[in-house]
Amino acid sequence: MQLQSHAPSGATLLISLLALPQLTSAFYLPGVAPTSYKQDDAVPLYVNAIRPVGDADSVLHSVLSWDYYHPTFQFCAPEGGGQPVGESLGSILFGDRIKTSAFELKMKHNETCKKQCEVTYGKNAAQFINQQIQEGVSLNWLVDGLPAGQKTIDVLSDTEFTNPGFLLGEQLDDGRIKFNNHYDIVIEYHEVNGNDGQYRVVGVIVQPESRKYTGEIGPDTCNTAPDIVELSETGDTKVRFTYSVYWIESSTAWATRWDKYLHVYDPKIQWFSLINSSVIVIFLVLTVMSVLVRALKKDIARYNRLDQINLDDLSGTSVLEDGVQEDSGWKLVHGDVFRNPSHPLLLSVFLGNGTQLFVMAGFTIAFALLGFLSPSNRGSLGTIMVLLYTVLGFVGGYTSARMYKSLQGEKWKLNIILTPLLVPGIVFAVFFLLDLFLWAEESSGAVPFTTMLVLIFIWFLISVPLSFAGSWLAFRAPAIEPPVRTNQIPRQIPPVTTYLKPIPSMLLVGLLPFGAIFVELYFIMTSIWFSRIYYMFGFLFLCYGLMIITCAAVTVLLVYFLLCAENYNWQWRAFLAAGTSGGYIFLNALIYWVTKLSLSGFAGSVLYIGYSALISFLFFILTGTIGYFASWLFVRKIYSSIKID
Ligand SMILES: *[C@@H]1O[C@H](CO)[C@@H](O)[C@H](O)[C@H]1NC(C)=O
Repeated sequence: MQLQSHAPSGATLLISLLALPQLTSAFYLPGVAPTSYKQDDAVPLYVNAIRPVGDADSVLHSVLSWDYYHPTFQFCAPEGGGQPVGESLGSILFGDRIKTSAFELKMKHNETCKKQCEVTYGKNAAQFINQQIQEGVSLNWLVDGLPAGQKTIDVLSDTEFTNPGFLLGEQLDDGRIKFNNHYDIVIEYHEVNGNDGQYRVVGVIVQPESRKYTGEIGPDTCNTAPDIVELSETGDTKVRFTYSVYWIESSTAWATRWDKYLHVYDPKIQWFSLINSSVIVIFLVLTVMSVLVRALKKDIARYNRLDQINLDDLSGTSVLEDGVQEDSGWKLVHGDVFRNPSHPLLLSVFLGNGTQLFVMAGFTIAFALLGFLSPSNRGSLGTIMVLLYTVLGFVGGYTSARMYKSLQGEKWKLNIILTPLLVPGIVFAVFFLLDLFLWAEESSGAVPFTTMLVLIFIWFLISVPLSFAGSWLAFRAPAIEPPVRTNQIPRQIPPVTTYLKPIPSMLLVGLLPFGAIFVELYFIMTSIWFSRIYYMFGFLFLCYGLMIITCAAVTVLLVYFLLCAENYNWQWRAFLAAGTSGGYIFLNALIYWVTKLSLSGFAGSVLYIGYSALISFLFFILTGTIGYFASWLFVRKIYSSIKID
């Protein structure tokens, strides 16, 4: 179910936010103004990169995409070659390479069996293309901003939807590999209300066919040619390309033309897992919190009563004193709990960047829920993420510097410089290295050099100065004082029980936030690697919320146990334990690699692992920061609620 309107009123907005089923898909605002065409106006058809989509058994063999005019494919190009069409930054980063094409479409003007170029494929080209067909790649065209797709039935829910892209070819049951050289382009149009003679494109379906032509091509040849085209791997094959265009009137309105694409895969599984995990999470968090709050209340009451008894002792004897150990549990470490951790510089830089990521993710999901990032706004997701991260450099710089000052760090210049450079630098370096691989493979996935330059410009001219400004402001602000004084001499830390040792505690704590997002992660990964449209921001929003709550709750619990065990080194422990979720995400990616993908070629595997590692690293910082700040608030709260002489 979708809500479509050009300008949703406040009420519909509220209703759609409150009604949970609506959240599964969210409504969208049309991103671009509609284009109207008169009869016989030229409607441009653009071509996009050729992308892997997996073979007949849904196994992906490659993650490399190709430019439509890659010399091996020899697809017919317009005169002077395909020219790039202007795209947004996010669109380029997410792999779009849109170019003009040799197809001539005219509004409401049917064409049958129009001839295009004739191409000869040699042995090597045939081998390459046949391999691509077997591994499953799809051609991606755009007509009036709408991706050309194929009608697909989702067998699980028995619903029909349009899947963007159509196959380059297919391996038949008898083992022959057919190469598609004819396209039936079916375009649905809609007459603009009250504006005669103006039409809009509301649907594009392309049915590719394989036709072996003998002799002249006439208007009927395309439907009568009996044989399929096979590219010979032992000799040259001549292939003639043709296409037909059919314009069909449709009742679909322009505003709802994207509905067919926004298909939610397995909504039942998603709902089930979401409800399942939220019940577990809420139950867990409530139990933990109630136990913790009760224990804390008792502790605090006891500590404050002991203070009272100690005062009484001065004047007389107390009957209670015998059975009660004077100071026990977390109160014992009050003189050490705010002792500065080792490597405060690194910690504060991570915390700054983590906060930046946290706010960015929150805003991005909020924008998505409000419908600004619908796929009709091509590349808006990528663009908004880059822009938000850039602008939020200020928040990152401020948090990092404020924390560093509070941790009494002395190398403040280094802190200011490292905050906007360290984490983005690591990300950019890995990204650049992976790009070199793509570039060496001649894949179109390689981000062009000019886009790299634009990224560097945005980074150094906007993000870095903003971060500096944030840091400057934070260093002028007073340091955040701990609620209790720290002793001169550090206490001895007694040995801890097994599950509080660093590694087991990290593994335990990291598992739960990962569990909250595990199912959604699967769908996100499928949409990234199998080039499907992801449009379940409602689920994502709920999962992100669950992840934050779980992450905070389990980390606080760990810190409480640590302090009770008189181990006051909670700062890095909290960060690392919560951050272990990132490790689980990487592990999950590896399992996905083994079970769902069968990547041929070294470059594909390097790319997959590289990108997974990058995403996991960012998750490490994000969840680590959530865990740290939750613990930080917790520790400040409990130590400010007891009296210390
Ligand atoms: C184009 O062809 C389709 C399918 O044959 C037909 O339904 C439609 O009416 C034709 N459109 C025009 C404008 O001739």
